[in-house]
Amino acid sequence: MHDDDDRARPLAAPTLEDVVSRRISRRAVLKGGLAASAALAAAGPSALSAAERATARPFGFKGLARGVDETHHVAEGYEAQVLIRWGDAVLPGAPPFDPARQSPEAQALQFGYNNDFIGYVPLPAGSKNPDHGLLCVNHEYVSREVMHPAIPPGADRAEALRQQALTEIAAHGGSVIEVRKRHGAWEVVPGSRYARRITAATPMRVAGPAAGHDWLKTSADPDGTAILGTFNNCAGGITPWGTYLMAEENFYFYFSGALPEGDPRAASFKRYGIPRGGTWAAADRRFDIASEPNEPFRFGWIVEVDPLDPDSIPVKHTALGRLVHEGAESIVNGDGRLVVYMGDDARFEYLYRYVSDGRYDPGRRMANSALLDRGTLSAARFEEDGTLTWLPLVHGEGGLDAANGFGSQAQVVIEARRAADIVGATPMDRPEDVEPNPVTGKVYVMLTNNADRGKDGKPAGFGPNPRNANTSGQIVEITPDGGDHAAPTARWDLLVRCGDPAREEIGAAWNPATDGNGWFSSPDNCAVDPAGHLWVATDQGDNWVYNSGKASADAPEGGMPGGVSADGLWAVETEGPGRGLAAMLFRCPIGAEMCGPRFTPDGQTLFLAVQHPGDDSCDNWPPFGRKSTFEDPATRWPDFRPDMPPRPSVVVVTKKGGGRIGS
Ligand code: FEO
Ligand code: CA
Ligand code: CA
Ligand code: CA
Repeated sequence: MHDDDDRARPLAAPTLEDVVSRRISRRAVLKGGLAASAALAAAGPSALSAAERATARPFGFKGLARGVDETHHVAEGYEAQVLIRWGDAVLPGAPPFDPARQSPEAQALQFGYNNDFIGYVPLPAGSKNPDHGLLCVNHEYVSREVMHPAIPPGADRAEALRQQALTEIAAHGGSVIEVRKRHGAWEVVPGSRYARRITAATPMRVAGPAAGHDWLKTSADPDGTAILGTFNNCAGGITPWGTYLMAEENFYFYFSGALPEGDPRAASFKRYGIPRGGTWAAADRRFDIASEPNEPFRFGWIVEVDPLDPDSIPVKHTALGRLVHEGAESIVNGDGRLVVYMGDDARFEYLYRYVSDGRYDPGRRMANSALLDRGTLSAARFEEDGTLTWLPLVHGEGGLDAANGFGSQAQVVIEARRAADIVGATPMDRPEDVEPNPVTGKVYVMLTNNADRGKDGKPAGFGPNPRNANTSGQIVEITPDGGDHAAPTARWDLLVRCGDPAREEIGAAWNPATDGNGWFSSPDNCAVDPAGHLWVATDQGDNWVYNSGKASADAPEGGMPGGVSADGLWAVETEGPGRGLAAMLFRCPIGAEMCGPRFTPDGQTLFLAVQHPGDDSCDNWPPFGRKSTFEDPATRWPDFRPDMPPRPSVVVVTKKGGGRIGS
């Protein structure tokens, strides 16, 4: 999901951002410590000869051309198969999908809306089976205009809105589905004993420091230990013991109402942007702050689900902090401790790391879950000299004490953002997915954009966030000191500064061999394949129409300016002479965002999530040129039937004739 405030336009003239960028590249050249950044920044798109480009190009496929149309595209030599769509059956008894007559009861048995994170857990449990496993899929949010039919005139509008809210509650959360490859094609196993729908009403348990804290208590849960549901689950993670972590992202959108005047919780609500005009109070009073002022404290957590046991109760692990959580990818450190990397996806928010006290024990599968309850949460501070310091968020240390309103570790995790403010973490350009690379030991941080950087007294371009009015985003590479993911310090570098390298005012920095199809904007979800290659999914949001390669005066008649593109999945080289090259493997249909991605353990299957097709800025797409609605959508992907709206779907990509994706 993209930030709905994000309506910024690229700047027309050089600004401070260019000055800052130039200063950084010059300094990097001089220092040599950020040598890769210097090489990236040193040359434009045509700096190398064709022969030099050929040797630098590391991908085994020809990248797709940038562009936008009604359907998806996959690189030559690859196949893309739609595996499961919004409304397809997940649980027994699911009725056939009837988009004109949706109901909460049907939706609770069917695949939810806006698939985002995808996890793959091989079957049998503990194996590396690449052809049979469980897919764990988040359903982040809903696109109301293309999801719901218009309410007919004369209908009971209040009741219709209540039914819509109940259907949306059932369309959120996640799905667990069993999938297998048979005769070369993937299928969902019908009637699987693992099949599960998790919704915004599924009972969950609270673990860790905040369990039972006064701010988690409600009239339905006077102990503060039992919560109904999870929602706005963006990315996530799969733990080494094969459980599914769901990150609760933009939870503040779902609440409405107000606290009483002078309420002591008001400052904390403000720090998290609560409320933002939610509509679910029409169906459930717990989303009305006036009725249940503590309900918003019960969201913004990392939720763990055991996909092998469909009756298991999901757990909200509060030790990992309460944030606008993008994802939670983990790695077992050399000493056996679990390390989880997490981004807080909002402008000027922080990068986080969690290190468990205990060590991972492969022999005691679910006992490892306790690793997520006892450990140290830290926030990142970046220095211009390439140093990163992890600042612990521990009660009693660094000003996190009663004098600053922190009476306990529970208060620290509930208000993790405020704790990170106090210890001096570095405000970032919207940290999205963060992925450790187990092959190289490095960590990649997707920073999607930040149009407010340097505006109105806000923090200016600096270090890992070098550009003001940053509409394109960047990828930061972290190298833990001594290969130790639990070390207090690390080194950082910029892998790429995204955006069109042909537009000087953008200040992009790619490998000098980059051509007109070798760049993207707004990195979001990412994955590292089993061979250690980085893959990046983009989410330009409504900005996609402005991330053009040429001025609009060059637009073909009736078409978009040259160089615009729908979101897609990109291979990004991180090593050797090709470092900073990118190529697009898959392109989404109009108005969609690219999510997933997830590889099977042999690297031969790639699962992708096409989120909100027919949604973002379709009115600015000249071939359509109007608002996209359920009745009149910009695309009817993937069915292209007149009675079917666009449907968020999981797509499987394989190489024709087999082989590792990207080889
Ligand atoms: Fe839901 Fe931060 O992307
Ligand atoms: Ca996003
Ligand atoms: Ca995301
Ligand atoms: Ca990921």
